[in-house]
Amino acid sequence: MTGVSVDPSGAFLTLGSRRFHAIWLRDNAADPGTRDPGNGQRLIAPGAIPSDLRIASAAISNGTLMVDFAPEMRTIAFELSWLARNAYDRSGVDGRGWTDPVITTWRGSLLGEVPAADLEALERRGGELRDWLGHVRRYGVARVVNGPAVPGALFRIVDLFGHVRETNYGRHFDVRNQVNPVNLAYTGRALQAHTDNPYRDPVPTVQVLYCLESSQGGGDSMVIDGFAAVRRLREENQDHFDVLADHCARFAFDGEDGVCLAARRPLIELAPDGELLCVRFNNRSLAAVRDVPFENMALWYAAYRHLGDIIDDPTMAVSFRLEPGECFVVDNTRVLHGRTAWTGVGSRWLQGCYADMDGLRSTHEAMMHATSRAPA
Ligand code: FE2
Repeated sequence: MTGVSVDPSGAFLTLGSRRFHAIWLRDNAADPGTRDPGNGQRLIAPGAIPSDLRIASAAISNGTLMVDFAPEMRTIAFELSWLARNAYDRSGVDGRGWTDPVITTWRGSLLGEVPAADLEALERRGGELRDWLGHVRRYGVARVVNGPAVPGALFRIVDLFGHVRETNYGRHFDVRNQVNPVNLAYTGRALQAHTDNPYRDPVPTVQVLYCLESSQGGGDSMVIDGFAAVRRLREENQDHFDVLADHCARFAFDGEDGVCLAARRPLIELAPDGELLCVRFNNRSLAAVRDVPFENMALWYAAYRHLGDIIDDPTMAVSFRLEPGECFVVDNTRVLHGRTAWTGVGSRWLQGCYADMDGLRSTHEAMMHATSRAPA
């Protein structure tokens, strides 16, 4: 950014090639009258800014943009580097299904192996944890190895970045063979790759699955990048992508006394500007879909089948065997997980729990900032 000019109307200024509105600048002022110096929270409501606000003048000095606002007659300083990071005057639309730059989408062969780290190394809360959290954000999945094979050890994983989200399944749940199971997850059946609990609103955004016992009879774990799957869907058939994004599905779970969960959300959830936010895919808990117009229902089902075919394509998946004391963590808004059938030879016992990505992102960001502030 070099050079600043103020539009004669005073409604905006131009800094280099980027324009900034007066109202935007005033609202984002960092002076002590606008933001609390202690916690950084904004002190003013929108109505506190004069409706006839305008930029009287602006000048650059020592990496800072000084702006005089009228009629307040107030001069506020803005760091040029902050303005560069937060500029919004850009052209070009990324189209439907774009993702945050922090995300790298992958297909099975591209990811190769799920990134892994030792539990004890992570609990030192240094660079290993920072990098491992970064892997969860980038790939939507990471493993932890060399933990103890004891019940409850999965909470040590959540303690690394956040808090358990308790549900009707409890603070944690046990995935092992059950007689008369309330959920098909508690049988030996193979499970098509899925996201968990789409019948919740909001869905749990992190799942931890921790292995305590593993049989020799199958039950391998697999993960699939749902964002890569729906992008492939878009490449192969834009109409299929659009119909799943444009209409809500329904999900429900009432397999347990006193529980009647239901949610109305699309399989492909986009932000208003097309950012890919969430994929929901779970054939076991899809309820009767009744929000797709009659004329689009056949197309919706063709798209649903198409997405299922992509998810079932072995080239999309990474498979691995969880040994006792190992676990994996998935971003449940994005990465699907599944398992092959197991025969009942030996035993298979996983403990699972839910947590949330906002806490994980927060921990990672805080560690990144701490790193950048560390003395060289
Ligand atoms: Fe699951």
